Amino acid sequence: MRRRCSHRSFLWFAVLLGTGSLPLLFHLEDLSSSIQLLNPGVKKLQRNSEEEDVLDSPAEGDVSSLMFNGSRPPDLGLFQDSTLVPPVGSEKVLEQQRTTQRLRRRLLADICSKYWPGAWDQLVSKSHMVMVWAEDRSRLLYCEVPKAGCSNWKRVLMVLAGYADSALDIPHDIAHIHNRLPHLVNFDLDSIMERVNTYTKVLFVRDPFERLVSAFRDKFENPNDYYHRLFGRHIISRYRANASQSALNTGDGVTFREFVHYLLDPRRPVGMDSHWTPVSTLCHPCLIHYDFIGKFENMNSEANFLLRSIGAPPHVTFPDYKDRNPQDERTSSSIMRRYFSLLNATERQRVYDFYRMDYLMFSYSKPLPHLH
Ligand SMILES: *[C@@H]1O[C@H](CO)[C@@H](O)[C@H](O)[C@H]1NC(C)=O
Ligand SMILES: *[C@@H]1O[C@H](CO)[C@@H](O)[C@H](O)[C@H]1NC(C)=O
Ligand SMILES: *[C@@H]1O[C@H](CO)[C@@H](O)[C@H](O)[C@H]1NC(C)=O
Repeated sequence: MRRRCSHRSFLWFAVLLGTGSLPLLFHLEDLSSSIQLLNPGVKKLQRNSEEEDVLDSPAEGDVSSLMFNGSRPPDLGLFQDSTLVPPVGSEKVLEQQRTTQRLRRRLLADICSKYWPGAWDQLVSKSHMVMVWAEDRSRLLYCEVPKAGCSNWKRVLMVLAGYADSALDIPHDIAHIHNRLPHLVNFDLDSIMERVNTYTKVLFVRDPFERLVSAFRDKFENPNDYYHRLFGRHIISRYRANASQSALNTGDGVTFREFVHYLLDPRRPVGMDSHWTPVSTLCHPCLIHYDFIGKFENMNSEANFLLRSIGAPPHVTFPDYKDRNPQDERTSSSIMRRYFSLLNATERQRVYDFYRMDYLMFSYSKPLPHLH
């Protein structure tokens, strides 16, 4: 079974990140490991053990290890540029959308500078762009967040790229496996830098608890050999007392609570996966300055606003496919609550802690009562 909305190299990357505790996900280890791969001559960055518990920024002055400066010039704002085709729609609604974007970018910058001082001006490396796709005709970079509309985004990118006439014609497997879209990291350094500095960089996020439940339902409550074998078997064997031989063999039937025990285990028996990795770690929004931060919850209006803003042809609109298990109801806030009611208060709090940076960076309110 193929993996959706991700690719195998990401698993590697996630294993390098490894640890599960949120602050550590930002740790130098990520940067230094990838740099070693890219540039074997470079000395490994030093770990400062006193800083283990804070959100580390890359070592100051260690420019040799960094690839380039990915900052956007201060006012290459998406919507200040008068050459962009003005979107259609009532001016009031458009103004609201622009304001929303400004507020989201500002909030993100504030959170980044509070928790990771200096990150905003740091240099970025290829390891930060593993999830980013490039679309050259519309000059778009899209960071893929699984379970937040990524299949439909890939369809739209294919249409923008001219590989398909309509997003509605594109089957799921084509969108994921044969989409022909380039990953940003597959370009040479100069081309990457040029794109990062001049393209519209786009990120779509989703309430982290809903995204997590959506990933669990998709991967563990439906037949899925790949996930059941790779994750399910380990999860059952580690977290279920008296598991049956058949559960141990197939990995079928992981419960939400078992899945959460795996997620929260600092010594989890199998690595992370892009479907439940926090967006703060997948897309590095403190380092890559996204021009557009959209929300899954308002996908239709925000995606179409973005498409009009970048001057996409009028026939290109965002589709509303739910192609993973279309018979299942979309994960809503009430479905999310039902799953979280299976956990005790300590576990709910720990899951919140795990996704805390995503909640802060994207201004989602606390998803359940009694979290702090
Ligand atoms: C990166 O480039 C931007 C714009 O050219 C500049 O303002 C910023 O200071 C640079 N950051 C670093 C760390 O060099
Ligand atoms: C596991 O099975 C043993 C023997 O059947 C039983 O004594 C024990 O209580 C079971 N443990 C759990 C957690 O179900
Ligand atoms: C919640 O469950 C965990 C096991 O995941 C257990 O260690 C803990 O004692 C429980 N907490 C409460 C408050 O019941």
